[in-house]
Amino acid sequence: MSDDLDALKSRTEADLAAATDLRAWDAVRVAVLGKSGSLTALLKELGKVAPEERRERGAALNRLKDSLNAAIEARRTALETAALEARLAAERMDVTLPPRPHPAGLIHPISRTIEEMAAIFGAMGFEVAEGPDVESDWHNFGALNIPAHHPARADHDTFYLPPVAGQSMPPVLRTHTSPVQVRTMLERSLPFRVVVPGRTYRADHDATHSPMFHQIEGLALGRDITLGHLKGCLIDFLRTFFGISTLPVRFRSSYFPFTEPSMEVDIGWNRKTGELGGGGDWLEILGSGMVHPKVLANAGIDPREWQGFAFGMGVERVTMLKHGIPDLRPFYESDIRWLRHYGFNPLAPAMLHEGV
Ligand code: DAH
Repeated sequence: MSDDLDALKSRTEADLAAATDLRAWDAVRVAVLGKSGSLTALLKELGKVAPEERRERGAALNRLKDSLNAAIEARRTALETAALEARLAAERMDVTLPPRPHPAGLIHPISRTIEEMAAIFGAMGFEVAEGPDVESDWHNFGALNIPAHHPARADHDTFYLPPVAGQSMPPVLRTHTSPVQVRTMLERSLPFRVVVPGRTYRADHDATHSPMFHQIEGLALGRDITLGHLKGCLIDFLRTFFGISTLPVRFRSSYFPFTEPSMEVDIGWNRKTGELGGGGDWLEILGSGMVHPKVLANAGIDPREWQGFAFGMGVERVTMLKHGIPDLRPFYESDIRWLRHYGFNPLAPAMLHEGV
């Protein structure tokens, strides 16, 4: 091969080696094989070569062209492979690494308690019912045998709402979940058993009272439901809920306008240590009774044919007792530190204490 072709070959090979990416590689290719490339120019000049040298020169140019084409293609393959490997290395990820921790939401203790209560009563055949927070005076008081001027109204610290045209009494924020007794009596067909968890409101605010709090109401109606059923149901519930199979439970005669007879229910605890179970002291935990015949009649149910029991309980109070939460106010302060301490893992559902 003549010197100029040798020089072109080694220069191109050096340029290719120096091209470290595809863009530089393409510049080398165009400079050699492009329209005005150096090899293209030599091929064009072949016509000017003396006829006796042309054959040999042509063959040499063709060999050079094949060799440069091969070198250019080989370099392209090498650069493409290197680029792919660099990309694979850059995008590599270790799929065996554990995921980054991310903040998980927690279930508020009140929601958790309501969920547990619904599960325990659900196992006893109770369905969950609901009613509105804004109630008529009749549902909240009248139908429950608490007429206007009844002294029991004074206990309720009621939030009254602006009067509504055409209604003699202003609506109220319900002071208890008992109005939902009336609603279910009017709506459901007998017999039925319901529990009603929900928000309730009273104009009262201190360490143990919040103007908004929660109650759960229970109502079981049938033809032959007795006070014995009431006792059995509530004893079973309290022992299951607190997870203490020997929890002492006491029924104490009391008064509510919507039940007759009425009973308050106490559980055994130790007043000094706060420990539930033994200890010889009693703690009032809920109100209950046999539904007053007048309440049944107010809801259009014949009290000679149907009877049953009802109960109502404060959700915050039993939640505080069960989990040793000392103060009521932080329940609604949305302090994330409080929730991290007292909240529940949403992936660990309520465990019922079996065999209690
Ligand atoms: N509604 C009552 C209250 O808020 C609690 C209550 C007592 C509900 C006795 C009942 C019951 O259903 O039978 O103080």
